[in-house]
Amino acid sequence: MKTLAIFASGTGSNAIKIIEHLRNKNAEVNFLILSNKTDAPVLQKAALLGIETFVFNKRDLYEQTNVIDFLLAKKTDLIVLAGFLWLVPQNLINLFPQKIINLHPALLPKFGGKGMYGAKVHEAVIAAQEKRSGITIHFIDQYYDQGTVILQAECEVLPTDNAASLAKKIQQLEHEHLPLIVEKNLLQGVSTAP
Ligand code: GRF
Repeated sequence: MKTLAIFASGTGSNAIKIIEHLRNKNAEVNFLILSNKTDAPVLQKAALLGIETFVFNKRDLYEQTNVIDFLLAKKTDLIVLAGFLWLVPQNLINLFPQKIINLHPALLPKFGGKGMYGAKVHEAVIAAQEKRSGITIHFIDQYYDQGTVILQAECEVLPTDNAASLAKKIQQLEHEHLPLIVEKNLLQGVSTAP
């Protein structure tokens, strides 16, 4: 039995896709969803799927060891950040070397860093008149949106695209690729692209 901890603070569509994918494979995985927002929609979805959740605040993560204690008590094998915006502290990274995967909705190193999330990313891509955008799935380090890249997948940005239409294309790429990357890393111990 493997344990997968997903940090999510938004709608959690990627978290759900990962869970559905692994459940469809009958993989023996214990899922955990951790969130820093008590009202995050992902928490209701997790409850419907019978998944254990853990809500934490800044102090739990940065000053105390409550998040770390929870992850260790559950024997966490892999962590995925899917819509989680806070910087992960070094003591947590040290405990899970190359075992914390982040999903970013652009082709890093472009359009990344603190404050670059959600619609802001797509608005910046459109404003820069980029011809292509995409997703980056990477291991994290102590900086925002840096660390070893596992996979990038691209899509076209058309002159007719706006932030909303681009967001849809990006979400499709995320849903297509992230579950496969998580499967490889969690079940096969492979840390490269499929
Ligand atoms: C995704 O676009 C991901 O790239 C970013 O946050 C978003 C999460 O979306 N880090 P969802 O909550 O999984 O729908």
